[in-house]
Amino acid sequence: MRKIIVAPSILSADFSHLGEDIKKIEDGGAEWLHFDVMDGHFVPNISFGQPVLKSIAHTHKLINDVHIMISDPYKYAPEFIKAGADYLTFHYEACKSDSEVFKVIDLIHECGAKAGLSVKPNTPIEKVYPFLYSVDMILVMSVEPGFGGQKFMPESCSKIIRLKNYMETNKIDKVLIEIDGGINDETAQVAKLAGVDVLVAGSYIFGHDDIKERIEKLKA
Ligand code: DX5
Ligand code: ZN
Repeated sequence: MRKIIVAPSILSADFSHLGEDIKKIEDGGAEWLHFDVMDGHFVPNISFGQPVLKSIAHTHKLINDVHIMISDPYKYAPEFIKAGADYLTFHYEACKSDSEVFKVIDLIHECGAKAGLSVKPNTPIEKVYPFLYSVDMILVMSVEPGFGGQKFMPESCSKIIRLKNYMETNKIDKVLIEIDGGINDETAQVAKLAGVDVLVAGSYIFGHDDIKERIEKLKA
């Protein structure tokens, strides 16, 4: 039975009580903390960056799952890893060529973190196939990146099924599959059936007084 990892996205947390909110998800059984970096250029929203990551990265025992929705990931990758990223996931669409994608993956590994590659909803899943022998994780977006609280896009599940089939056919079993956007107790079930390993959830988790139960529902 595959172990499901829950990665609450702090984009939906209460930033005036960030430490307390992180403790709530840690006590609630989350394994990872999903940290959404937005630059207002690659995506039409601005969230937070290295200083915030640095201030929280070592205040908990969760894996720091940093999702950079930014242009020029090659330039910023080292700083996010230095600030505490354990996984650093960048966007395929932020790179101009496959060779640039490979360069970012290699740089992340050289800096001592695990490399994730993310694709937006309109990017065919086949685009990530060349990188499956290099990355540690593929993040399939189930919303258009940029905001929390959006509606789940069910077509993301067929991308995950195709990716899973391709990986099984080619005996690739070390790459995690993460899904991100609109995940709640219902959509989590279809995502797990499709084969994901990591569930990112923001608005379903934060801002509620039954965080532990919500995390357990995602894992059930
Ligand atoms: C969107 C981010 C997601 C988002 C998830 O661009 O990458 O991680 O915060 O939020 P919910 O779970 O509310 O869709
Ligand atoms: Zn994210």
